[in-house]
Amino acid sequence: MKKEEFRRLGYEIVDWVADYLENLEQFKVVPSIRPGEIKKQIPLSPPEEAEDWSQILNDFHQIILPGMTHWQHPGWFAYFPANNSPASILAEIITAGLGAQCMSWQTSPAATELEEVVMEWLRKMIGLPEGMVGVIQDTASTSTLCALIAARERATNFEVNNKGFYRPMTVYASDQAHSSVEKGVKIAGYGRERMRYIPTDDNLAMIPEALEERIRQDIQAGAIPTCVVATLGTTSSSAIDPLRPIGEICARYGLWLHVDAAYAGTAAILPEMRWMLDGIEYVDSFVFNPHKWMLTNFDCSAFFVRREEEYVRTFEMNPEYLKTAQDRLVRNFRDWGIQLGRRFRALKLWFVIRSYGVKGLQALVREHIRLAHLFRSWLEEHPLFEIMAPSPLSLVCFRLNDGRPEEELNKLNQIFHQRINDSGQIFLTHTALRGRYILRFVVGSRTTQEKHVRLAWEIIRNEAERLVSSKS
Ligand SMILES: Cc1ncc(COP(=O)(O)O)c(C=O)c1O
Repeated sequence: MKKEEFRRLGYEIVDWVADYLENLEQFKVVPSIRPGEIKKQIPLSPPEEAEDWSQILNDFHQIILPGMTHWQHPGWFAYFPANNSPASILAEIITAGLGAQCMSWQTSPAATELEEVVMEWLRKMIGLPEGMVGVIQDTASTSTLCALIAARERATNFEVNNKGFYRPMTVYASDQAHSSVEKGVKIAGYGRERMRYIPTDDNLAMIPEALEERIRQDIQAGAIPTCVVATLGTTSSSAIDPLRPIGEICARYGLWLHVDAAYAGTAAILPEMRWMLDGIEYVDSFVFNPHKWMLTNFDCSAFFVRREEEYVRTFEMNPEYLKTAQDRLVRNFRDWGIQLGRRFRALKLWFVIRSYGVKGLQALVREHIRLAHLFRSWLEEHPLFEIMAPSPLSLVCFRLNDGRPEEELNKLNQIFHQRINDSGQIFLTHTALRGRYILRFVVGSRTTQEKHVRLAWEIIRNEAERLVSSKS
């Protein structure tokens, strides 16, 4: 590509992105296409000759765009959000332009040092204890896996790293924990059977007494209880596990306490949400995802540990070809996780935090929580809806309940859910709580305003009323 063409296309593409973000509402949130429909439009073999850029971009618009799900859409109420923002997009362009691989301090001193600084900013912003040190991982799943591996080593004085497992080691999380915990337990070598799911209370939060009881049983059976993963903001219902009593148990029995706050962690920038962190002094590691609710393009997962040296010892490798003259003076983030090569992710966080300011980010999160509670109040006032869980954050769990027998409600709600999403204007996902099919309504998209929540309510209420009247 000639440099003039690169410039021209670059401007054109930035214009396209700006238009896309302004006109998101003209798209259906989720495309209506069948599996295989995109693939069949793309040749099975790569082109032998260079292709023309007009053709490449034309194919993007004709083939790829119609098959995209629009995560930045204001009608996005599904899963948890994965927000971008203009500041973050601009940083990603620069990062791609720099093309740096930031595994060591030497391979990009500024990338390492900026990562150190922005992680310290984040630590202060969400109120983690002084002395916790952060690193950017790709995802919460990877962060939790790293915590499980580090916990394994601390519990065995690094013997598993050397010899492999020699005694059963057990991991504890609530029965509402994200599947990434069990996935980590499988990958880290504990074995799925050593995963202990602890029952939850009426608020879907872990019951500390049940945790302690299970730890005692495992000790008696000859296992090494190793790690507890507490969740702040479970995926299904945003339940908050009580850190203080869980932390006291971990301290009593010598377990590593990891906190998965993938979505909820961002809300800790609000002073009124800091109650979630009561007991944080017991925590050994903590993860939350700025790529969810803090306007930073996927991927960007902020992972903090309490004892840096112990943590790094778990992962570090020092082959001759990676040694540098500064190794003793600097942090080499290649020793902070699984991968060697690393993207420059700190730049986008830096741009986002500076361009919004902490106050700007607080205002956004606070508004999302307000909108979710407004939506919840409409559901509460309507006789056809049932609220299914507390809403400490911006997630509302509900279902349609017109009084028919319990065994018919799951089917009814599946149909109801499908009809809502068929509108194309909004997108919700579901979960199961205690065996019941439940709709999740998450307010978290940067582009969502009160008018979009009102539109969502209209669609949801109309579909509910239509469905119930057609069945009666
Ligand atoms: C509580 C919780 N933990 C972990 C994850 C996994 O996040 P990631 O995609 O960053 O691995 C999610 C995803 O939504 C989540 O809700």
